Amino acid sequence: MDRYVITGKQKLEGHIKTSGAKNASLPLMAAAILADGITVIQGIPNLSDIRNMGEVLKSLGCQVEFKNSEMMIDTTSLVEWTVNEELMRKMRASNLILGPMIAREGKVKISRPGGCAIGSRPMDQHIKGLLELGVRVEEKHGYIEARADKLIGGEVYLDIPSVGATENIMMAAVKAEGITVIRNAAREPEIVDLQNLLNKMGGKVRGAGTHVIRIDGVKKLKSVEHTVIPDRIEAGTHMVAAVMTGGDIVVDNVIPEHVSPIIAKLRQAGADITSNGDSVRVRHSGKIKAMEVKTLAYPGFPTDMQPQFLALLTIAEGTSIITETIFENRFQHIAELRRMGAKVIIEGRTAIICGVSTLEGAFVEATDLRAGAALFLAALAAEEGTVLERVNYIDRGYENLEHKYRALGAKLQRVVRTSEK
Ligand code: UD1
Repeated sequence: MDRYVITGKQKLEGHIKTSGAKNASLPLMAAAILADGITVIQGIPNLSDIRNMGEVLKSLGCQVEFKNSEMMIDTTSLVEWTVNEELMRKMRASNLILGPMIAREGKVKISRPGGCAIGSRPMDQHIKGLLELGVRVEEKHGYIEARADKLIGGEVYLDIPSVGATENIMMAAVKAEGITVIRNAAREPEIVDLQNLLNKMGGKVRGAGTHVIRIDGVKKLKSVEHTVIPDRIEAGTHMVAAVMTGGDIVVDNVIPEHVSPIIAKLRQAGADITSNGDSVRVRHSGKIKAMEVKTLAYPGFPTDMQPQFLALLTIAEGTSIITETIFENRFQHIAELRRMGAKVIIEGRTAIICGVSTLEGAFVEATDLRAGAALFLAALAAEEGTVLERVNYIDRGYENLEHKYRALGAKLQRVVRTSEK
């Protein structure tokens, strides 16, 4: 895997443009399965997770073309209904084909995604929802096989407002006979984007963005064009970079409402933030204020920003507390941040952070996507140089990162390593 060599303590200034949202693009790509024809999605980021989802669609027989952030997905030759284990293992979000495949083909088989670096990540809520729609689900030898002669609308109550389960159930229910109601649905902006695509295709979905989503099933969906929403987590990461480097960054291509929990917390840290249309300007100088942060489902503070905030609070004045309520094992960045001089104690799902005046460059390693982002930010703010290993994790969620940050004045280099021991 590649590494970054980063010289810290550069004040970052200028404009940075957020790419399309990875977590919106993945379900939109899966939703293309529902239409017979060519779906065109604009604004898709060129990331390894996106390319992997493209491979999953190709393995089902779809034709996928991806150029200049435009993706064309032609589903007319879709013939397969199983996804091979190797592809599934590359990315757990490939489980998003469950809903659309059962709606289109009446059958689908995927290997059960395993846990990952941040938690065990079960699929029980996805399966529970599909069962309510009349799907038969068998789990054997590490595979999930789902079959249905006919999908029938039903009442689904999610025990947890799971983003992926809400999306999978929406994509199955959109072609079911009758009405489906999903209660305690996730409310993330990516779910609203999926609703917008499904409705353009001819679906009848209402309520995304609230806890109750109502879907009137339709017989057929048509292929359409759609533009993905901007990535709120990428935008939030740039906003934290501005504060940690005492910089002045204008983040372009943002929906300010989507980053409102991040803006609120950065203001509490002392940042000066203004928004203008689809841009957010973040300035900071002087001390960073300590605070308490608790991750929650949207519109609460996003778990995908927790590692980056933890990095920020390592250099705050005073003691901060971060509680992670969504994933049970999302503190792996802490051991690496300690190597950079951070003072953090972990008590179960809570991290207690005693701010230090500065971080020191060190040799550190990304363990997952957002942990990698946190270390990247820490390196930008640290004294002297940092070698950040395994940056391919960061590539899963950040497009052209080194190019974008060099334009802001960051000093960094990517060292490409072809072989891995
Ligand atoms: C999505 C995001 C991910 C983000 C997460 C939470 C994508 C591709 N990924 O992941 O970046 O961190 O939302 O905002 O959109 N759970 C169950 N049973 C289930 C499903 C989930 O117990 O059947 C639990 C999970 O273990 C976790 C919580 O619910 O503790 C939230 O997970 P979920 O919202 O499903 O996350 P993902 O959709 O996998």
